[in-house]
Amino acid sequence: MSGSIPGRALVVGGRGFLGRHIVTALCTAGFEVTSAVRTRCTPSALSNDAGEVALDLLASPARTLRAVLRATRPAVVVNCAGVVSGTAEQLADGNVVAPVRLLAAMTATAPTALYIHLGSAAEYGPSGVRINAVSPGPTRTEGTAAMGENLDALAAAAPAGRPASPQEIADSIVFLASQRSSFVHGAILPVDGGRVAV
Ligand SMILES: NC(=O)c1ccc[n+]([C@@H]2O[C@H](COP(=O)([O-])OP(=O)(O)OC[C@H]3O[C@@H](n4cnc5c(N)ncnc54)[C@H](OP(=O)(O)O)[C@@H]3O)[C@@H](O)[C@H]2O)c1
Repeated sequence: MSGSIPGRALVVGGRGFLGRHIVTALCTAGFEVTSAVRTRCTPSALSNDAGEVALDLLASPARTLRAVLRATRPAVVVNCAGVVSGTAEQLADGNVVAPVRLLAAMTATAPTALYIHLGSAAEYGPSGVRINAVSPGPTRTEGTAAMGENLDALAAAAPAGRPASPQEIADSIVFLASQRSSFVHGAILPVDGGRVAV
């Protein structure tokens, strides 16, 4: 997909409360949408032009996931499938294992597609579990040593103008791990020298 030209979109969980609106919005925006639904019989609240395909991210075999991606050839995959209640195992299956299976199939068959994930820390907060994420910018590590000056060039466009040290990434984790971040739930913290800010 290039620039603002809509392409093909696959919406997984396309009959969910949010998914159905996302399907409609993408159709309206000109995307050619396929809605992957686990339960075909649930009536959709809104009409749209999307095609439908049956898919269960947990129960469908990996080859079915790959076949759906091969058939729909999406430029964008929106994952609106999630589990909002249940046991710890059911939450982990629906919110962790299912996306991992989808991403594995994408890696194999749609490696250039954009993946957009709808998720929430809300299901875990009441049990005292805080979920946050750190999104590091270019960082000088043993793993990026081979990039040499290319890493500096990558980092140069951000306000900090340099790669991070691993310690700077680790410091943000220490903050999130401490009680000093006790009211921070569901945050994605860019520790990237201001890359996303510009
Ligand atoms: N609604 C909110 O206020 C809110 C806020 C923050 C985040 N979110 C997140 O947004 C996502 C969608 O929320 P929602 O309100 O639209 O919930 P929802 O209506 O329960 O949507 C979840 C959808 O995922 C599908 N699904 C569940 N497990 C699946 C699997 N293994 N394979 C394929 N599809 C599966 C369900 O299919 P069936 O119809 O067959 O059950 C359902 O259509 C969830 O991850 C939720 O945590 C929602």
